[in-house]
Amino acid sequence: MNEVIVGHISEFPERSGRVFRMGTLELAMFKLSDGTVKAIDNLCPHKQGKLSEGIVCDHHVFCPLHDRKINLHDGLVQAPDDGCVETYRVEVDGGGIVILFLKDGLGTKVS
Ligand code: FES
Repeated sequence: MNEVIVGHISEFPERSGRVFRMGTLELAMFKLSDGTVKAIDNLCPHKQGKLSEGIVCDHHVFCPLHDRKINLHDGLVQAPDDGCVETYRVEVDGGGIVILFLKDGLGTKVS
């Protein structure tokens, strides 16, 4: 597991997407109204809409292209649609530093 410092919590606007890139990896990161930060792949499983440009409501993001609703906790597309996106563990430490946890090998390949 690789830990990556992404920035300070103050750099994350609430309920607005922020893109994180590392190698071939591109994630959408969102600070929710409860102060937690979520990270998911930045591509909608339907037709690759950029989820970082979606609208956040509670713990869901709505894809900007065709409005599919994706749960930011588990990455599942909500019914009546289906599919899922990969989710990533994120923690905010006591000093407000946002730490992203990547599985070994993820984000290290540069195209
Ligand atoms: S590309 Fe996301 S709903 Fe169609």
